[in-house]
Amino acid sequence: MKPKTTHQKPVEVYYDAIAHIYDHATAPEGAWTAPEEARKAMSSLPTPESALIIGIGSGQDIDGLKKKGCSHIEGIDISREMIAACHGKHPDVLLHHGDVVQYDVFYRSRYDLIVCSGTSEFIKDIDAFFALTSRLLGRHGFMILTFEPIIPGHDLQFEAQSSTPAGPSFPSITTYRRNLDDILSLAAEVGMTPSHADPKSYVAYRKAGVDVIYQLVVFEKTADGSAKNEHHKDSK
Ligand SMILES: C[S@@+](CC[C@H](N)C(=O)[O-])C[C@H]1O[C@@H](n2cnc3c(N)ncnc32)[C@H](O)[C@@H]1O
Repeated sequence: MKPKTTHQKPVEVYYDAIAHIYDHATAPEGAWTAPEEARKAMSSLPTPESALIIGIGSGQDIDGLKKKGCSHIEGIDISREMIAACHGKHPDVLLHHGDVVQYDVFYRSRYDLIVCSGTSEFIKDIDAFFALTSRLLGRHGFMILTFEPIIPGHDLQFEAQSSTPAGPSFPSITTYRRNLDDILSLAAEVGMTPSHADPKSYVAYRKAGVDVIYQLVVFEKTADGSAKNEHHKDSK
């Protein structure tokens, strides 16, 4: 199946198509553990005054932030239907529609915390992602990031990218996987340091009977980053 309009990316069409069943499909125990893992990671961080959720989806990362006392929450998602689902549950949260690596009109210029959970595997240009998130994080701000690691011998995650087959009502989408060392060195280039505990691996969900593994890293913005990041900022 092709996207309905040429400007829509496959991942947008895909999440638009499944938005109405997303919360129901992810509700059973173990069906989608990423929001709970993000909540656990938040628990060891200082209470943020402001937070940006990248790939906010239906808003499953919001309750943890609210419970923690975060007063300013913004989110961005490429799917209008996911944003509509999120808005229905959390009308107080400020939402943006767009592809995060091409977006530049957030309400704040800096956030205390960025949460990007279950989303970076859909982002091809990970350099642009790190340049943007570094620019949006205040000094000593934190980012909770998950990514899909490349795992030799794993039935699904053995290769750096793969595409799902298209279904009757949704298109094929591509998953991009990374090595932890590459993630850490990209982060270091933009002034982000893994903040505490070792990066954590967990089973995020099961696909066709196979465990899908995520890695979660908490970064702290400790420096301004390299000229590469400054160039990105100036070119906007
Ligand atoms: C698996 S869902 C995760 C949603 C939420 N974080 C959760 O844990 O339930 C991935 C979300 O990322 C969004 N997404 C994918 N690529 C994106 C991009 N380039 N910019 C913004 N959102 C994106 C999708 O539309 C989808 O809502």
